[in-house]
Amino acid sequence: MSNTGRDSSSFAKDLDRRTFFQWLLLGITVAVGLLATAAFAIPFILYLMGSLRKRNTLWVNLGPIDKFPVGETRLETFANPLGQPWDGMTANTGVYVRNLGKNGDGNEQFVVFSVNCAHLGCPVTWFPQSGLFMCPCHGGVYYENGERASGPPPRGLYQCAWQLRDGKLEIQAPHYPTLQNPLKDRG
Ligand code: FES
Repeated sequence: MSNTGRDSSSFAKDLDRRTFFQWLLLGITVAVGLLATAAFAIPFILYLMGSLRKRNTLWVNLGPIDKFPVGETRLETFANPLGQPWDGMTANTGVYVRNLGKNGDGNEQFVVFSVNCAHLGCPVTWFPQSGLFMCPCHGGVYYENGERASGPPPRGLYQCAWQLRDGKLEIQAPHYPTLQNPLKDRG
């Protein structure tokens, strides 16, 4: 075989090798690009799905409004429909309902407090004698209107959204409230 023949054959091999590595590099670049896109897109899609789920509000029926005497605060417990099958007993939660009576337009007014302390979430207890909510964990105290009175809580009790339907009081199923994600903005 002549030198020219050997040269052209090794040139062809070099070309094949170069083409192979170019395709390999392209393949790796595309794969990394797809992974990076997925890393950004998946959280965004989950966020959108979460927003859609949020719009699908679940309401909990607490019963006829005459269960709640005007000017009193009552604890109402229920199984939270936001719970998961594996939550067990922890899906049972409660709220404090205070009937404020009728407003100037003759409409019944309520305030519904989460049982979770605004500090670290321990369930608070209502003491009608003193007109205070007290937290057993770190001594947080709240007035009867839910405002913080003393102790470590950074704010007043969280409030649930409520509505009246056919003479019954309904509340928006409460998730675990936090400063970043309260149940209802108190303003
Ligand atoms: S959890 Fe209530 S004061 Fe800390």
